[in-house]
Amino acid sequence: MNVIETTAELRRILAPVRSQQHIAFVPTMGCLHEGHLSLMRKARRLADIVIVSIYVNPMQFGPNEDFDAYPRTFEADAALCEKEGVDIIFHPHNLYPADGLRISLKVDELDNCLCGAARPGHFDGVVTVVNMLFNIVQPDIAIFGEKDWQQLSIIRCMGDDLQMNIEIIGEPTYREADGLAMSSRNRYLSPDERNLAPRLHEVLQYMRDAFEQGESSAAALIRQGRAKLADAAIEPEYLEIRDANSLQSVTTIETPCRILIAAKIGSARLIDNIPLDLPEHAMETV
Ligand code: PAJ
Repeated sequence: MNVIETTAELRRILAPVRSQQHIAFVPTMGCLHEGHLSLMRKARRLADIVIVSIYVNPMQFGPNEDFDAYPRTFEADAALCEKEGVDIIFHPHNLYPADGLRISLKVDELDNCLCGAARPGHFDGVVTVVNMLFNIVQPDIAIFGEKDWQQLSIIRCMGDDLQMNIEIIGEPTYREADGLAMSSRNRYLSPDERNLAPRLHEVLQYMRDAFEQGESSAAALIRQGRAKLADAAIEPEYLEIRDANSLQSVTTIETPCRILIAAKIGSARLIDNIPLDLPEHAMETV
């Protein structure tokens, strides 16, 4: 496994192999856990060369967010990548010009809801850095987690709208045994908060059960979900049902949808989502 820190070096190594070998790319911010590793395993199955980037992207953190505190665990991350058969870790120190970017990408509409509403500019930072990374790595495919459903949807749109020749692949959310979605931020949870956190997934499942038993009104499902959260003393930042592809709000579940939640448990802002598939779409069991 190669660890590469500069764009020039990565380009030099990839130039001779690019035309014969299929390249899969997994962008990350490090502090790797099983969720990230599941993306690497998917990449390993699909391509000849697997490249993982580890870069905590300053542009996607708001002024009061945890950029400085974001856990940086490079040695442990590298050992995990090695074990998963990753070929190259791209670990740049900085991707931004010293006096700031003169040109960046802007997300329209898709980011004025859900996490985008609470984190202004966050998704502009995500697409700008993912675009840079795509330009550097030029992969054939790139794998992203469904755990960050809005991010995955926005990156798919970026690929379509900007005519990128990269296949975007979504991988289901990897969970702890009690259902909690794995996240680098779970390490901020105290033992009591850790016990409470699986409630988020339980409530999503409870809402999906109600849907499967015949409730198709989004408002009614959300009311039921909110009542369950209140029982657990959790006040969500949002609990919404949206069309899985367009992220538009829905009143009745008539297309494949997603139930999405964000909530602060202690100091950790956790997010999760599950699919609401109509019977003919019911293929996924996240
Ligand atoms: P990060 O939070 O490190 O996540 C990297 C990738 O891992 C993302 O595609 C995310 O959706 C996926 N992931 C995280 N937890 C997961 C889980 N429990 N199951 C499956 N996949 C999971 O997302 C980012 O970094 C950044 O925004 C990035 C895309 C790297 C741009 O900076």
